[in-house]
Amino acid sequence: MKGIKIIKKEANNLRQKLIKEKQLCTDYKVRSDDNFVYLPLITDYDVSLIENIVKDYDVGVEDYDFVKAQYRPTNFMDFLDDKISQKELEEIRKSFDIVGDIVILEIPPELEDKKTIIGKAVLDFTKRKSVFYKKSKVRGVTRTRELEYLAGEDNLETVHKEFGIRFKLNPSTVYFSPRLATERSRIVNEVKNHETIIDFFAGIGSFPISIAHVKDVKIYSVDINPEAYKYVNENIKLNRLIGEVIPIEGDIRKVINDLPLADRIIMNLPGTAKDFLDVAVNHLKSGGILNYYEFSSDYDTVLKRVEDVAYPRETEVLDIRKVKSQSPGVWHVGLSIRIL
Ligand SMILES: C[S@@+](CC[C@H](N)C(=O)[O-])C[C@H]1O[C@@H](n2cnc3c(N)ncnc32)[C@H](O)[C@@H]1O
Repeated sequence: MKGIKIIKKEANNLRQKLIKEKQLCTDYKVRSDDNFVYLPLITDYDVSLIENIVKDYDVGVEDYDFVKAQYRPTNFMDFLDDKISQKELEEIRKSFDIVGDIVILEIPPELEDKKTIIGKAVLDFTKRKSVFYKKSKVRGVTRTRELEYLAGEDNLETVHKEFGIRFKLNPSTVYFSPRLATERSRIVNEVKNHETIIDFFAGIGSFPISIAHVKDVKIYSVDINPEAYKYVNENIKLNRLIGEVIPIEGDIRKVINDLPLADRIIMNLPGTAKDFLDVAVNHLKSGGILNYYEFSSDYDTVLKRVEDVAYPRETEVLDIRKVKSQSPGVWHVGLSIRIL
């Protein structure tokens, strides 16, 4: 096939120019001997363009033998390239959550029959231990979802590492989102030493443990899900904490009266936290901070809701932000607000 023979010290420069002009044939290997490098050209190379490029090098186009390059897919999308459309692959890739050793993904209904090859490809290319797919939406009071096994080890318990903290959990029996890592870190930075904090909907203790890892605080980690209570206890033992995390199993409405007034209350239950705003406001010290979350398409609705419940207490907005996208046009909104 046609190629260009060039002395070694100039080869890379010419190679780059050929790549830039899309004239280098990548289906065949570039070869070399002691003094020369041989660059394969695409079959329908542009003769005048090549003449123009090679005139600076004192070389010409000749026939040379080249060996076919062995194509190795570099990610699972390459691997599945000929089996699934690019658009479908992109959708699957966006749905990826990696929790510890487990990859959790979404399989659209039209790809159900290909789920096994997708699972295997994802396992090979992520090098994690297991792949599961989302069989249901997050639902119920515990905000958990059904996960179905696809590939690797059929074990849903794992340890997720985040900013030097270890969270043990089973993602089908408790809520946990690795996508909230930045938000957790944001709240950790807001907290001051010696605060008394209540996390109303603490799950496995992801906010409380992140905070107590670096701040000298007392945090009540409340959750109605007995599995979440089990894991928060384990996670306290798994991590070296500066502050104190006190796990409580139960409905926040029922346990709140046993707890002291708080400097800060965290309410990450974005679908229904609004129904608990009165409980939170009543339990917040004057000047205490509410870390409140709600699914919303705008900030005003969220702000007005909290201000209305807090009334006649004055409020001071510290920050309002989009934590992550929930659905087209709807955001998981985070509000940090002081209630005087
Ligand atoms: C969206 S999850 C958030 C968990 C945790 N804050 C996180 O970000 O990982 C909401 C949690 O609230 C708990 N929950 C729901 N209703 C509750 C209630 N009335 N009292 C206490 N916990 C509740 C659920 O069991 C679930 O673990």
